[in-house]
Amino acid sequence: MENNIISGTTRICGIIGDPIEHTMSPVMHNAAFQKAGLGFVFVPFNVKPEELKQAIHGVRAFNIRGLSVTIPHKVAVIPFLDEVDSLAEKIGAVNTIVNEEKRLKGYNTDASGFLRALLKEGIQPEGKNVVILGAGGASRAIAFILADRGAELTIINRHLAPAQEMAGRIFSFFRKEVKALELNRENLKIALDGADIVVNTTSVGMSPNAGKSPVGADLLKPGLVVFDIIYNPMKTRLMAEAEKRGAKIISGVEMLVWQGVAAFELWTGKSAPVQVMRESAIRALSSK
Ligand code: ATR
Repeated sequence: MENNIISGTTRICGIIGDPIEHTMSPVMHNAAFQKAGLGFVFVPFNVKPEELKQAIHGVRAFNIRGLSVTIPHKVAVIPFLDEVDSLAEKIGAVNTIVNEEKRLKGYNTDASGFLRALLKEGIQPEGKNVVILGAGGASRAIAFILADRGAELTIINRHLAPAQEMAGRIFSFFRKEVKALELNRENLKIALDGADIVVNTTSVGMSPNAGKSPVGADLLKPGLVVFDIIYNPMKTRLMAEAEKRGAKIISGVEMLVWQGVAAFELWTGKSAPVQVMRESAIRALSSK
């Protein structure tokens, strides 16, 4: 869309969630659509859980081209779709929908976006020892794509049961043994000793608790890759300490950007203006 003009041929994409006010997606996608001159706009929709079914029918009725899906709908939306991509189905969560002539297909670009962020840094997951902190929704998307790509996984969580449950599911889908441990200093020390990559998917270190880190600084070392999926703040305490200790750091902004890139490509069939998306996300996050 040039000069932000909405016309009779403008195509609509959006994001559904509840709450939705803090989403970064409209800023990122509108910047990308304008740069690409594609005649698309992106809007936020506050959809309550009890209205999810009607909202999804509305996607077909209004001929909305695509949706991002965020909390609390990523799991609940699946029964209302016509098809789900096979990895998203295994993960059990969808964060992107594409409307192909009223047939709605769900994808998980949290998973593919995380992978692309790693690959862009020149890191191939196959055979790498990866420690994932946390066993919630984001952890699951990341663990499943890493298992699919042949990484060796250890999942460490404050409560052991969700980590064990995830390890069991990964074994049943991929026949891969995954270690599940409780989050404490002793287990972190053992797991990080042989690790190539550590991914933080917990909310420890997220604003307003930016002073906290899930990992003691002394356990971080050169050669380790530290990927913190938190993007607010853009540099967490974990990342700052990892950098100081000579580890390689990857910011949650990269996962945010690459999941958006993957969605943009699914909706438009074109390659995304990645740098424009990154700059707009960083600008919006800086002014928070
Ligand atoms: P997301 O969708 O971002 O993954 P989530 O599904 O709510 O969010 O998962 C939050 C994760 O952060 C969980 O692994 C949670 O651990 P528990 O399963 O033990 O609750 C973890 N988490 C949240 N607060 C934490 C804290 N103070 N210390 C350690 N882990 C924490």
